[in-house]
Amino acid sequence: MSSPSSRSHLYRLGAVLVIGIVGFLALKEIATPASWNYEDWYREDAKKEIASGPLVYGGNESCQTCHAEALKELTEFKHKTLSCESCHGPLADHVRNGEKTAAAKVDNGSNWQCLNCHAELITRKLVDNRPDFPQFKVGRVKEHEEVAKGALCQTCHNPHDPTP
Ligand code: HEC
Ligand code: HEC
Ligand code: HEC
Ligand code: HEC
Repeated sequence: MSSPSSRSHLYRLGAVLVIGIVGFLALKEIATPASWNYEDWYREDAKKEIASGPLVYGGNESCQTCHAEALKELTEFKHKTLSCESCHGPLADHVRNGEKTAAAKVDNGSNWQCLNCHAELITRKLVDNRPDFPQFKVGRVKEHEEVAKGALCQTCHNPHDPTP
C-alpha cells in the first residue's frame, strides 16, 4: 500500500476540479437571464421587448383604410403576393397616429426597383428550361431592347398590374 502523502496530489487535483465545477455552475446561474426558457432555449422577455418597439411596417392591411382602391387593384393581378411597403417604404415614414405625416416613397425614375426582384439570375430555378420566376430578359422579349436605349419598365408595365 502507498503512504497517504503519495496520494496527496490526487486530493489536490480533485479539489481543483470540484472548485472548477462549482464555480462554473455558480457563474452559469448568475449569467442565465431570469426568463430563460430551457425547453425552447431562448429568453422569453426578448419577445416582449421586441413587441414593445415602435411600429415600422404595418403590412398591406394597414393601407386599407386610406388606399382601398390601390390595395384592391394589386390583389387582382400578378403582383398580388407583394408587400406595398417593399416599393413604398415603411408605413411609419408615411403615417403616424392615423394621419399622413410625409409622402410615401414612389420610385418613378429608375428601373432598380423592378430589377431588384426581376434581374436575371442563374440561381433562380429553372422549370422545363424556363425560370419559375419571371425574369427580365432582353432576348426573349423584343420590347426589352428599349431598356438599353433608356426606357423605363413603367412605360410598358403598370407596377400594380404588371402584365403588359
Ligand atoms: C412593385 C412596386 C409596387 C407595389 C408592390 C405597390 N406599388 Fe403603389 N405604386 C408603385 C409605383 C411605381 C407607383 C407610381 C405609378 C405612377 O406614377 O404611374 C405607385 C403608385 C401608388 C399610389 C399613387 C397613385 C395611385 O394609384 O393612386 C398609391 C396610393 C399606391 N401606389 C399605393 C399602393 C398600395 C396601397 C400598395 C399595396 C396594396 C402598392 N401601392 C403596391 C409601385 C408599387
Ligand atoms: C391614414 C391614412 C393613410 C394610410 C393608413 C396610408 N396612407 Fe398613403 N396616403 C395618404 C394620403 C392622405 C395621401 C395623399 C393623397 C392621396 O394620394 O390619396 C397618401 C399618398 C400615398 C402615396 C402617393 C405618394 C404620396 O405620399 O403622396 C403612396 C404611394 C401611398 N400613400 C402609399 C401608402 C402605403 C403603401 C400605405 C400602407 C403601408 C399607406 N399609404 C397608408 C394617407 C394614408
Ligand atoms: C418584391 C419583388 C418584386 C418587385 C419589386 C417587382 N416584382 Fe414583378 N413580380 C414579382 C412576383 C412575385 C411576380 C409573380 C410571379 C408569379 O406568380 O409568376 C411578379 C410578376 C411580374 C411580371 C409578370 C406578369 C405576368 O403576367 O406574368 C412582370 C411583367 C413584372 N412582375 C414586372 C415588374 C415591374 C415592371 C416591376 C417594377 C415596377 C416589378 N415587377 C417589381 C415580384 C416583384
Ligand atoms: C417597351 C416596352 C417594355 C419595357 C420598357 C419593359 N418591358 Fe417587360 N415586357 C414587355 C412585354 C411586351 C412583355 C411580354 C412578353 C410576352 O409575354 O411574350 C414583357 C415581359 C416582361 C416580364 C415577363 C417575363 C417573360 O419572359 O415573359 C418581365 C419579368 C418583365 N417584362 C420585366 C421588365 C422589367 C424589369 C423592365 C425594366 C427593366 C421591363 N420589363 C421593361 C414590354 C416591356
